[in-house]
Amino acid sequence: MHVDVFTLFPGIFDGPLDESILKRAQEMGRLSVALHNVRDYTTDKHHITDDYPYGGGGGMIMKPEPIFAAVEDVLGAALPHVPIILPSPQGRLFNQALARELAAHERLALICGRYEGVDERVRQFLVTDEISIGDYVLTGGELPALVLIDAITRLLPGVLGNAGATLDDSHANGLLEYPHYTRPAEFRGHAVPEVLLSGHHAQVASWRRQQAVRRTWERRPELLEQADLTPEDRALLETLTPQAGEKRAKSG
Ligand code: ADE
Repeated sequence: MHVDVFTLFPGIFDGPLDESILKRAQEMGRLSVALHNVRDYTTDKHHITDDYPYGGGGGMIMKPEPIFAAVEDVLGAALPHVPIILPSPQGRLFNQALARELAAHERLALICGRYEGVDERVRQFLVTDEISIGDYVLTGGELPALVLIDAITRLLPGVLGNAGATLDDSHANGLLEYPHYTRPAEFRGHAVPEVLLSGHHAQVASWRRQQAVRRTWERRPELLEQADLTPEDRALLETLTPQAGEKRAKSG
């Protein structure tokens, strides 16, 4: 996976890309990220990248020319084949399914907006996808771009080592993930559930599945509508009574 990032603040990417899994993915050759400073594509003396909005109002708008110039120069003949993504609160909501969809591409381009936003012609005539990482507003597209890169990279083959590592992730199968425990078996009087110490794989798998279903029902019940549920899952959900639902609402 190669990612071209177009930004006015390439320094924001240094820390996250230089640590842990993202660093290792680059060392393994699974991920490469090229940071392109949009300011380098200005042609005026003062290297201006933003301007006042037509029609007035507050805030500055990123000018279209340096963004188009940067993306066209970097992508060249590949331009029609590469998704060009603008992180934006107006975009399609990012989720695990979209992370998987993006992870299937060999190359992506991310344009990071700043100030009040980018000139609408960038959206209309350059960008192929707008993606929001949630219903809140950040100061720019750099952190959302890193969120996308992180979520995509851990799905690339070989990056997490264990081929099954992402199968049980929260959201991977439409459910939240089951609880995890490690040693010690008892911590401050709180014991690890007995079944996990039993060495009985089928029972462990069944316990984990029940926990995932229960947890999803408690915390994100709307996810259950889309989840792939077995007859056992449905039987478990039947036992989760309205009284339990009331308790859940009170405990917030
Ligand atoms: N830019 C600013 N806020 C954003 C958000 N919530 N998602 C994606 N890009 C953004």
